[in-house]
Amino acid sequence: MGMNVDLNGLTLKNPVIAASGTYGYNNEFDVFCDVSKLGATVTKAISLHPRPGNDWQRIFETDCGLINSIGLENVGIEKYLSTYQLINLSTIVNIAGSTVEEYLELAKICDKNGIKAIELNLSCPNVKCGCLEFGTDEEALYGLVSRVREIYSGHLTSKLTPNVTSIEKIAIAAEKAGANAISAINTVKALGLKLNYINGEFKKEYVRGGLSGKAVKPVALGAVERISKAVNIPVIGMGGIYTLEDVLEFFAVGAEAVQVGTANFTHPDTCERLVDELEAFMQTNGFATLDELKNKLRALPLAP
Ligand SMILES: Cc1cc2nc3c(=O)[nH]c(=O)nc-3n(C[C@H](O)[C@H](O)[C@H](O)COP(=O)(O)O)c2cc1C
Repeated sequence: MGMNVDLNGLTLKNPVIAASGTYGYNNEFDVFCDVSKLGATVTKAISLHPRPGNDWQRIFETDCGLINSIGLENVGIEKYLSTYQLINLSTIVNIAGSTVEEYLELAKICDKNGIKAIELNLSCPNVKCGCLEFGTDEEALYGLVSRVREIYSGHLTSKLTPNVTSIEKIAIAAEKAGANAISAINTVKALGLKLNYINGEFKKEYVRGGLSGKAVKPVALGAVERISKAVNIPVIGMGGIYTLEDVLEFFAVGAEAVQVGTANFTHPDTCERLVDELEAFMQTNGFATLDELKNKLRALPLAP
């Protein structure tokens, strides 16, 4: 069964990838599923130095999604390389910096240590500086990605934020700067608020952070469709993927591969299940390759 996918310099055995920040450093999920069956996994964002993350409430559940404000807690690149790096799995390392210099240093370290693929996190809404500033400004993004490109020889994905007016313009800048692929979307800026009236007073619980899960799927599909029309490099779609139908919808609007995030928290075997279900669907319905399936899905374009 031809499930493999070529992401412009990175070939994966199938298109299902575990998303950054929802799969640890690949060291937590093997008790729930066979992680080696996934196309790839993306690490939690890794910074140059360890980060403790935010110290206020970090997670807020909504009716159909999750708001997180983790603040990029991570062990730092040195500890990641010495303790967590797994070379037998297809791992994409998600990197995040507060300055251009930090991104460049991280890219240099990844290159020196033979890391095959990185995802530049240009889109985290939960830190005070860095990431999101690069992801919302075409010129800043172009400058950053092209400098990383000069230093890093492996596969480079730029991960974009939906918190912009025109995500396709940002994607074009990433493509021009030399990114091999675009991934989208990161979380949507949100406020989770819960009011309780107790003894004549309102008490409030709230989190400002990024919304993910089922609630963001339509936003993500719209973004992936616009990006796919605007660039010639592969787009990796994510946002609210739980089922095979979700995966097919992302393929239909142009995604070459998909990432699964929030679903992993409630159903930690989601990625493996999606690989199995995609394979079974292709077999049952006579699709010999993923491209055949994608072509069929895209044969009836949506009206503009
Ligand atoms: C708790 C949590 C932590 C996340 N951490 C990161 C991160 O470190 N780097 C990153 O690029 N994206 C991070 N994300 C964003 C996800 O990778 C993904 O882009 C987003 O959640 C949308 O996909 P989903 O709806 O399937 O979760 C995080 C998401 C969640 C829910």
